[in-house]
Amino acid sequence: MPVEGICWINNEIVRLEDARISVMDHGLLYGDGIFEGIRFYNNKAFLLEPHLERLVASAKALALELPQGIPELSTTLQSVIKEYKNHHGYIRLIITRGKGPLGINPALCKTPELIIIASPLNMSDEQAQKKGIRTIIASTRRIPADCLDPRIKSLNYLNAILARIEANNAGVEEALMLNQQGYITEGTVDNIFIVNNGELYTTPSIDGSLAGITRDLILNLANDSGINTHVKSLAAYDIYAADECFLTGTGAELIPVNEVDGRKYSDCPGNIFKQLKNQYQNSLIQRQ
Ligand SMILES: Cc1ncc(COP(=O)(O)O)c(C=O)c1O
Repeated sequence: MPVEGICWINNEIVRLEDARISVMDHGLLYGDGIFEGIRFYNNKAFLLEPHLERLVASAKALALELPQGIPELSTTLQSVIKEYKNHHGYIRLIITRGKGPLGINPALCKTPELIIIASPLNMSDEQAQKKGIRTIIASTRRIPADCLDPRIKSLNYLNAILARIEANNAGVEEALMLNQQGYITEGTVDNIFIVNNGELYTTPSIDGSLAGITRDLILNLANDSGINTHVKSLAAYDIYAADECFLTGTGAELIPVNEVDGRKYSDCPGNIFKQLKNQYQNSLIQRQ
């Protein structure tokens, strides 16, 4: 079955199923590269600026040269959105180290590869929005931040994939991951929030989570509406004993969690979740 979507690669836009990269690309061989997932609505990229800022920071951290400067990259991205037949969708912007000989040496890869995919927007599961998802805390620990900084949005997801395999085997939808000290980091592809006594908590990147753009938006929306917010280390106990729990991400948007390791939340989706979800949707409309 053809995969729906288009792709900007090698300076042209092609059908997704016709897009090709070299088998000698170090993104494929060694996961040497970075990416951003960006939603667009009514042909306009949502929160483009912070996504591009994070891309630049990830590239700097990996000493990876951006194939295009930011103004040019924004123009290329807009041209992909314009070319795509749907007005709403999802952009996957990938920059790999490019082609090189076998062996990890990035210095031997002369030209980074830019790939921009536009594909359908996966609407979040209606059942999940109504009833929440079940999760476990995985036994696979997050790679320590001093080994691979979680703020680098890299092409390496094996650590998260190991945790997702645990979730699959346990018959639940998502896994939460602890760091080496036993503090909660995040889900496999999303940030975590809990609510306690009407106050909102999420985990700091230094504990092992991506500096999520949706997370930042949610913190700002909560502050705007007078909800006290805390970015602090959380133990499994805090998650089990919380009043509400939910996950955030560009793909996921906001997903309520109804269960962690068999401990159920009586309030799911909870009131704070519902309020923030409303504010999130309003901010989508306002930014159009
Ligand atoms: C590991 C991880 N954490 C959190 C997120 C959520 O980040 P954002 O809200 O910027 O999409 C993602 C999204 O891809 C992710 O891969």
